[in-house]
Amino acid sequence: MLWVIEHLENLSEWVKLEYAHCSRIIGKRNLLFTNVRAETERSFLRKFGKVEEKSAVELFAKEKIIVLEPRAGKFLAGGDFKKYKNILIGRMLGDFPQRGRTFELLTSKLKNAVPRSLGNYQFSIDGAAFVARKIQLKQEKDLGILNQPEIELSDEHSIELHYAVPVFKGKIIFTPGLVSYLKNEESWE
Ligand SMILES: C[S@@+](CC[C@H](N)C(=O)[O-])C[C@H]1O[C@@H](n2cnc3c(N)ncnc32)[C@H](O)[C@@H]1O
Repeated sequence: MLWVIEHLENLSEWVKLEYAHCSRIIGKRNLLFTNVRAETERSFLRKFGKVEEKSAVELFAKEKIIVLEPRAGKFLAGGDFKKYKNILIGRMLGDFPQRGRTFELLTSKLKNAVPRSLGNYQFSIDGAAFVARKIQLKQEKDLGILNQPEIELSDEHSIELHYAVPVFKGKIIFTPGLVSYLKNEESWE
């Protein structure tokens, strides 16, 4: 099965961390980044998976591909991984509240898409990949959710993430490197 990430916005340092985490969750051989228009970005992303310049909308136009779609009426289930070959995640910034951009940019353009929800909370790209992978592995009973966690950056500063973070067997699954990245951001000085 291919796990496809449609690259829809710029490749920021934060997104690089999320993509690297997706590669660890899914495995480099099973991950495909699509819609990567810049050669510099394609070359960087080859460290983490296969890379395509074309959009998933073009590549999977005829396929019944699962789309992780926050607006879907049906929840993702373990059985979906037996029925369908590939699964698609959108790479776009989280909105708070959500604006239906996965629907606008992906689901509505893929006529045979199989939209599936992970529940009412908005996850980051790697958070969504983590939860979906645990559903595939039938380990969802050990999953929990921490919505909008606050991260302490220093004695004076903290930041609230405007999305949900998975918890697995009681451990919070933050994007590796994100807390130190945020702590080192010059804007917090
Ligand atoms: C940060 S979210 C962006 C969601 C976007 N703001 C929207 O309005 O659709 C990035 C991607 O993670 C996946 N995702 C996040 N939370 C999800 C959920 N609760 N159900 C299904 N997919 C989700 C979707 O594929 C989405 O495109």
